[in-house]
Amino acid sequence: MTDRIDTLIILGANGDLTSRLLLPGLSSLLASTRGSSINLVGVDRGELSQTDWRAKVTQAFAATPSSLGTTIAKESRYLQADVTSESDLAAVLAASPGRIALYFALPPAVTIMACTTLSTMPLPKGIAFALEKPFGTDLRSAKLLNRLLQRMLPEEQLFRVDHFLGKSTVLNMLGVRFANRIFEPLFSAPHVEKVEIVFDETLALENRAGYYDRAGALVDMIQSHLLLVLALAAMEPPASLDADDLRGAMAQVLRATSMKTKNGSSSRRARYGAGGTLPAYTDEAGVDASRDTETLAEVTLQIANWRWAGVPFILRSGKALGESRQEVIVTFRDVPHLPGGLTGASAPSRLRMSMKPAALDLDLMINGEGDPFTLEPSILHADLGAGELNAYGEVLAGILECDPTLSVRGDVAEECWRIVAPALAAWRKNAVELEEYPAGSSGPTGW
Ligand code: BG6
Repeated sequence: MTDRIDTLIILGANGDLTSRLLLPGLSSLLASTRGSSINLVGVDRGELSQTDWRAKVTQAFAATPSSLGTTIAKESRYLQADVTSESDLAAVLAASPGRIALYFALPPAVTIMACTTLSTMPLPKGIAFALEKPFGTDLRSAKLLNRLLQRMLPEEQLFRVDHFLGKSTVLNMLGVRFANRIFEPLFSAPHVEKVEIVFDETLALENRAGYYDRAGALVDMIQSHLLLVLALAAMEPPASLDADDLRGAMAQVLRATSMKTKNGSSSRRARYGAGGTLPAYTDEAGVDASRDTETLAEVTLQIANWRWAGVPFILRSGKALGESRQEVIVTFRDVPHLPGGLTGASAPSRLRMSMKPAALDLDLMINGEGDPFTLEPSILHADLGAGELNAYGEVLAGILECDPTLSVRGDVAEECWRIVAPALAAWRKNAVELEEYPAGSSGPTGW
C-alpha cells in the first residue's frame, strides 16, 4: 500500500464548504511544492453533469492556477449518490481507484448517518476519513461518534479537521516558543500575568443561520479552534513534531485545563443588535431569537499544572465587532523592582502573536528619546510571511500524505467539549446574562 492517498472523494461536493474552502485549499496545495497527482471525485445528492462539475472545480482552482490543478480538474468526476445509502456508498467506493480519503463536507447529522451506514460495510484497505468540525454537538455525542469511528478505523486513519491547525500563524507559535531561549523559560506562572486568545471578527452572520444559530460563538470558535490554539501556546515542549509527540503534548495540557468556576461565572456572552449597516442578529434571515444564540463569547480558563497554576487564560471570540483582532497575547508580570530614578510611563511587557495579519509584536518599556532616565513604551515588530499553503491546503496536505499530525486526535476533541461544558450548561439554564452590543462596536460596555 502506498503512503499517499490516490483518490480524494468529497461527500457534499455541491455544498458551500467545498467550493469556498476545500477546493481552493486543494488548489493551493497542487500549486505548491507539495502538490502531487490525485483523482478527485465529487459526490452529492443532486444531479450535476460532468461538465458542470469540472467547471465548478476549475473555477474554485482559479485563484492559484497550476498545470497539475488544470489536469486534475479536467479528469475529476462527479457521482450522484445518497451518502446514507449503503448501495450508493458501495458504488462510490468501488468506482474509486487506489487508496481513498473520504472527506465528509456535510452537516454533522448527515456525517453521523453516513458513518453509521459505512460501519456496516466492508471498507477498502487504508481508507482515511476526514471529518469537519463541529465534531459532535456535545461531549456525549463526540464520545459516541469517536466510538463509532474507532470501531471502524485505527486513529491514524481518522482526520478530524480543524483548519486553525493549518494556519501558518498558529503553527508559528511553535517556532517562537521552542526555537528561542528568550521566550520559553518565561512562559510560566512566575513570569506571566495572563494569556489572552482573542478572535474578534468584523464579519457578521453571512447567511449561515442554518448552522450558526445552533452553534453560537462558544461552540463555533472557542470549543474548537481557540482551545487548540491554547494547547499550542501552553503545552510542554514536545521532543519532536511528529503526530504522537505533538498531539500527546496538546492532549496533556488540555486534560489539565478547565473553566475557572463551574457555575458559569467565569464566562460571558452577548449578542449583537443593529449597528451601522448591519441588522440586529435576531433580524437576520433564519435566526430564531428564542434560541438565545450568543455572537460573542468569553471564558476564563485555568490550567492545573506546575507551569501554569494561577494564570488565567482568557479566550474570546465574536462577530460583527468594530475591529478585527485575532491574536494570542502573553502579558508578563511587572518587574520585581524598578531602580529608583527610572521614571515615566509604566506598562507590562507583552508578547503578541497575531493570527491575522501575520505578525509578531513585543511590547517593551525602554529608555526613550531625550531624557535617558525616562521610560517609554516601544514595540519590536516583525511581519511574518504568508505560509506556502493556505490553512485548508495545509490540512489537506496532511490527509493526502497520510500524516495525522495536524488533525485533531479523538481524545483532544472530547477534552475540548469537556472544557466548555460548564459554560454551555450554565447558559442553557440562563444563569449567565445574555448581554447586547451594537454591531460594529467593541462589544458590551464593561467587557
Ligand atoms: C470557521 C467559523 O470555522 O472559522 C467561522 O465557522 C469563522 O465562523 C472562521 O469566521 C474563521 O476562520 P478564518 O480562517 O476564516 O479566519
